[in-house]
Amino acid sequence: MIFLMTNPLLGPLVYLDGAGQPIVVINTLEVAVDLLDRKAGVTSDRPHIIVPDMMTGGLFTPFVGHNEIWRRMRKATQESLRTGTTQFNKAAQYRDSIQLALDMLRDPVNWYGHCKQAVASTIMQVTYGKSPPEWKYKENVANFHEFVDGITRAAMPGAHYVEIAPWMSLIPSRAQDFFVKHSKIFRSIYEDTRMSLDLGDHSLSLARTFIEDGDKHGLSQEEAYWLAAAALYVCPSILLWMMAMILFPETQRRAHEEIDRVVGRDRLPTMEDCDNLPYIQAMVKESIRWRPIDPIGLPRRASEDIYYKGYLIPKRTTMIANVWAMHRDARSYGPDAHLFNPARFIDEGTGKLKPGPAGTKEESHVTFGFGRRICPGRHVAVSMLQMQMTTVLWAMKIEGVMNEKGEHAPINVDGCIDDGLVVRPVPFAAKLTARSQKALAMIEKGTVDM
Ligand code: HEM
Repeated sequence: MIFLMTNPLLGPLVYLDGAGQPIVVINTLEVAVDLLDRKAGVTSDRPHIIVPDMMTGGLFTPFVGHNEIWRRMRKATQESLRTGTTQFNKAAQYRDSIQLALDMLRDPVNWYGHCKQAVASTIMQVTYGKSPPEWKYKENVANFHEFVDGITRAAMPGAHYVEIAPWMSLIPSRAQDFFVKHSKIFRSIYEDTRMSLDLGDHSLSLARTFIEDGDKHGLSQEEAYWLAAAALYVCPSILLWMMAMILFPETQRRAHEEIDRVVGRDRLPTMEDCDNLPYIQAMVKESIRWRPIDPIGLPRRASEDIYYKGYLIPKRTTMIANVWAMHRDARSYGPDAHLFNPARFIDEGTGKLKPGPAGTKEESHVTFGFGRRICPGRHVAVSMLQMQMTTVLWAMKIEGVMNEKGEHAPINVDGCIDDGLVVRPVPFAAKLTARSQKALAMIEKGTVDM
């Protein structure tokens, strides 16, 4: 992955030989749109990656091939998110954002962990309708991280010898143990949700809609258990945003100014404010663009021979979208594409958001993928980030830490912890200061009132 991210020698479409497996890497937005959006009928399959398939029993939507199981799971997820998103997110996102701000102010040294915890909490609420203090919370968050880390590492092309020598899959392995363990966990959480429903708890969640509408989509029990699990595959975007806040303080100043003008200092921000904060919306887009957490997306596979501009991409070729390179392309994002600059998405005349580069749809970037397999949870992710960023900035100032010599402690900007398909920043220290005593008191009261 590092090779793909750092080699500017690459042309728009590059062929690699992965130990006999043909791979094409797509390096420009135009080619990605041509192949992954316009030719979605033959580019929506996933490579058969043996270890992740064994780890998830072929039931994890993002990894499932372009087949009937995927169609059922995708349709159920999309419908559920479409009908429920706005309602079932609001309360959880509001509550977790205030809790996040409070945890960060009370215990700034561990801000990195608090961010991860807040994301896990919101996603578990969205997925299973459970709030943090109840219901084996710590245990489930730990399982959540183990699951996500395990599969994203395993899904990296070439991560395991068995991908090169498939006969090795016949050997009983830790991958199968992983599947058995996590199947049990997902079944138990799912059944917990079913029991709560029977007892009259009608919190909206993905699991609830699958329980109520499962028959409509023809889902098997196992498919339903694993369906909800797909939402757990989320995002270190908030961690990367924290880095940007320290490195690009003028963007933080502009965000503070917008929040103070629109929300004021006498109440906490709400979900409803988010629509009136174009600079924060641009900041969310820019955080996801500047350092995409999945720099090479999720691999696809050509399900037919594809003829494209005089080239043949043979059936079964693995196709990788080099999202990192697309986001560094000056033709799409200007000469400062490598910098964090939310204003690139703002029309300075009207102060409103302006359309992003052609082919990036309403997101203005391609971190959420393409075509038929574009991330169905992207609206959940975006609204969660908007609420977290707005609340944290309403409450505090984020700065770098000075060392004893009065110099800024260095931040490893280009380093990352490579979790396989997903990357996150190397932890760094941050100085977090409440913007006023009143702001701190209001955040404390906000958590009491929840
Ligand atoms: C910043 C956060 C997120 C990022 C960057 C992200 C990114 C992605 C990407 C790149 C894909 C594959 C797209 C492709 O192949 O072109 C994907 C698929 C998927 N995502 Fe997300 N995602 C995020 C959050 C979420 C959330 C919150 C949910 C659920 C509520 C979700 C549910 C899914 C599902 C179910 C798929 C599989 C879709 C399919 O294969 O048809 N994601 N995501």
